[in-house]
Amino acid sequence: MSKIITNNITWVGKVDWELTMFHGNELSTKRGSSYNAYLVRGLKKTVLLDTVWGPYDKEFVSRLKEEVPLDQIDAIIMQHNETDHSGALAELMREIPDTPIYCTAKGEAILRGHYHKDWNFVNVKTGDVLELGGDERLTFIEAPMLHWPDTMFTYYNGGGGVLFSNDGFGQHYASENLFNDEVPKCEMMYEALKYYANILSTYSPMVSRKVKEILAMNLPLAMICPSHGVIWRKEPAQIVEKYLQWSDSYQEDQVTIVYDTMWNSTRLMAEAIARGIKAQAPATTVKIFNAAKEDKNDILTEVFRSKAVLVGSPTINYGYSYAVAGILEMLKGMRLKKKKAAAFGSYGWSGEGAKLISAALTEAGFEVADEGCRTLWVPDEKALKEAEEYGKAFALKL
Ligand code: FEO
Repeated sequence: MSKIITNNITWVGKVDWELTMFHGNELSTKRGSSYNAYLVRGLKKTVLLDTVWGPYDKEFVSRLKEEVPLDQIDAIIMQHNETDHSGALAELMREIPDTPIYCTAKGEAILRGHYHKDWNFVNVKTGDVLELGGDERLTFIEAPMLHWPDTMFTYYNGGGGVLFSNDGFGQHYASENLFNDEVPKCEMMYEALKYYANILSTYSPMVSRKVKEILAMNLPLAMICPSHGVIWRKEPAQIVEKYLQWSDSYQEDQVTIVYDTMWNSTRLMAEAIARGIKAQAPATTVKIFNAAKEDKNDILTEVFRSKAVLVGSPTINYGYSYAVAGILEMLKGMRLKKKKAAAFGSYGWSGEGAKLISAALTEAGFEVADEGCRTLWVPDEKALKEAEEYGKAFALKL
């Protein structure tokens, strides 16, 4: 079912209520998602922006036909060609094979690499326009690495100014409502943050540059239409401001403790360290996660918003646990900056787990504050007191 956004912009995407994982098993999507595609009808030209994920290709084309005769679509704009947006393109192009596809040069390469078709590609760059008739036009803005090399945004000068931003400013958030002012702000903003932390944080320097570049254009902006989640209609500048903050070594007054445990020794240490941090810094939020039990992407989101992270594991087979290894690998990919860190863990004999975690944290770009905290076998009252004192000392370094 299509939905009307303005008198000449229609949402023609797909809400995916049952999506629980994205990018294979890399990203949890506990509130589903949507693949937003938009139809813009100008005085002279009708343009489709993006399509939807492949499993919904026939449904997408069928519903699009109800909205507009396909032969009246003058152009298709593919802002980014990951399969969640380009997956229905082949089905659509079977019906209108000569329709021009506007995309970046990298976008064309990606579409060719995915679908192996010689479609009617029109390469565009920043500043190129597609005239819609009257004085209305779509202007393309390349946005490489937000989050793929092919990504671009599209600015529409009608409707008070509308920025189609593809993955940028998106949220994996399914809703039958179209707009940000129609959904609970708290849960939607969490999904926007989780989306940024897990998908865009790696590319924060490019995000920062691009957002500043767009702000410097001083374009009127009534709405931001991303390709996932709800449209920013109420105060669209709020998410732009958030992106400026998130892309600039973001941190709140929070410490996140991530651990794994075999027989509870490292868990007891985690909780003792947390008590110490809280005693030393009562205003600081302290959160504790078992890496083997909690959702990895929610953990990464909490680390993203923290000023420091403590990672703990018992020493296992001269190393550390599988779950902690996974978190450390993902943290390395996020390329976070200006965050302090330290390692801890219990051990029985060789005991190098904490040292190896410290090395991995350093490699991931964290500022490792000290040599960490270790306990031989099961911590007794004295060892727990030492862990608590360690937490206090760590808090003083933040
Ligand atoms: Fe929503 Fe990068 O695809």
